[in-house]
Amino acid sequence: MNTINNVSIIDIPKVHDERGFLAVIEKNTIPFAIKRVYYLYDVPSDSYRGGHAHKEQQSVIIALSGSFEVLVDDGKSTKRIMLNKPNQGLIMPTQIWREIDNFSSGAVCLVLASTEYNEAEYIRDYKIFKNQF
Ligand code: TYD
Repeated sequence: MNTINNVSIIDIPKVHDERGFLAVIEKNTIPFAIKRVYYLYDVPSDSYRGGHAHKEQQSVIIALSGSFEVLVDDGKSTKRIMLNKPNQGLIMPTQIWREIDNFSSGAVCLVLASTEYNEAEYIRDYKIFKNQF
């Protein structure tokens, strides 16, 4: 399987007892400090999200509920990753193009981001993204 530059899946520590699971993200669980949290929900199954890379923002993408697929592209190769476990996080460094689709019914896509929202640090044109490599 091809690897995409520094994109990886981490297991989020969880605690289980007869009342269910509790997953915890602490300072050392992910490689950056969280400045923003946002989430996608009520996403139509034929919807396509993402379609951008970031100059500054690092993020972790988590399928908090349901499932979806993330296409990741480091400018050299691409890979499709299915996320369907609420205790797994997809670590996304800067300069990774991502497209998210195949949302299941009830899917919730949680994003932990290292920056505040700043449209200026988005790369939304795939040609511009690709031309950097
Ligand atoms: P967009 O980047 O298209 O979402 P996605 O990557 O999930 O496809 O963002 C949709 C809109 O929401 C766009 O107008 C920018 C706005 N937005 C904010 O205002 N704040 C945020 O933190 C984010 C992520 C998006």
